[in-house]
Amino acid sequence: MSNTKVYIVLSILFIIVDSSVGSTVFNVVNLGAKPDGKSDSTQSFVKAWGAACGSVASATIYVPSGRYLIKNVEFKGPCKNTDITFRIDGSLVAPSDYNVIGDLENWISFQWVTGVSIYGGTLDGRGIALWACKLANKKCPSGATSLSFTNSKDIVINGLKSLNSQMFHIVINGCENVNMQKLMITASGNSPNTDGIHVQLSTGVTIMNSGIKTGDDCISIGPGTRNLWIEHVACGPGHGISIGSLAKDLDEQGVQNVTVKTIVFTGTQNGMRIKAWGRPSNGFVKGVLFQHAIMKNVQNPLVIDQNYCPRNEGCPEQVSGIKISEVAYEDIQGTSATQVAVKFDCSTKNPCKQIKLENVKLTYQNQPAVSSCTNADGSVHGVVEPAGCF
Ligand SMILES: *[C@@H]1O[C@H](CO)[C@@H](O)[C@H](O)[C@H]1NC(C)=O
Repeated sequence: MSNTKVYIVLSILFIIVDSSVGSTVFNVVNLGAKPDGKSDSTQSFVKAWGAACGSVASATIYVPSGRYLIKNVEFKGPCKNTDITFRIDGSLVAPSDYNVIGDLENWISFQWVTGVSIYGGTLDGRGIALWACKLANKKCPSGATSLSFTNSKDIVINGLKSLNSQMFHIVINGCENVNMQKLMITASGNSPNTDGIHVQLSTGVTIMNSGIKTGDDCISIGPGTRNLWIEHVACGPGHGISIGSLAKDLDEQGVQNVTVKTIVFTGTQNGMRIKAWGRPSNGFVKGVLFQHAIMKNVQNPLVIDQNYCPRNEGCPEQVSGIKISEVAYEDIQGTSATQVAVKFDCSTKNPCKQIKLENVKLTYQNQPAVSSCTNADGSVHGVVEPAGCF
């Protein structure tokens, strides 16, 4: 028998139709994956995806416990069905040599898919050696995002752990209706560019009940994000939850309708931040609610920085084109690690408008903290300490 025939026969033998849920199950081990952490199992995942994506019925890709070495892999649609579940009991591990993925942007990426769910599992990006290379200022590849969804719809990620990504852990780009729950994201506090979750050009993304410890933003929110809901997240170490950087480009979609509530920030560089380059842009931020946050020793708890320009390069006029309006901070409590706990540094050309502070109490070493406003206009409600500076 030819290899193809053997493969087809084996595949048929190992396809199990779970009649209770009507889902066809593709077990990667039956397709050749080895749970030893050393054998390259990429092709088994590619086969499982091909079968699931080509199936007209609902399909489940099952990854039993164990460690599976996976090289960079793209799961591409459009698929014949809109119900594909990854049920993962094991860990997917990246190659130990970071040069294998090198400068490729993504390790595990999904594109043009609808109705993909991931339940459980661990992604181990093995980024430690690459971070060391970067921190030593040596020549190193940029490294990959561990998991990305691009141009996709109706996505669920539930109970996934992401460890030591090389660059970002999770990126949601150009997507609609993405529900992320119970994620545990971990990288060292000094690991470069290991943002927890980055969302951009996406509508209807939810992030709930998750813990993010990392070396860059816990969650970063890029241009074109709308109807984002973040609730019950523990952040730290990390750089906090950030809208931005915006105004990288002149032509940029706005950020609109963002809710960030019930967040605990522990020892982070920032709490809730909006950050825009001091550069021309037609982008905007409108309708943001930051509510019920606890700050524990956070360096910059509430920040708007419209004059972001590291090394003073590439900001010809030093004036941000981003228009920021309708940003509310409600029930924010805790401690600042620096005296300036509230800093709204807006642009001369586009002052921040309709900023609202309600029941904010931030202290610095058991003393009152201070607030600082530049070109910011807004209102104060309830008890606000440090006092508003509009
Ligand atoms: C704002 O976004 C939330 C989801 O985060 C959604 O439920 C709500 O309908 C949106 N509001 C508007 C006015 O679009």
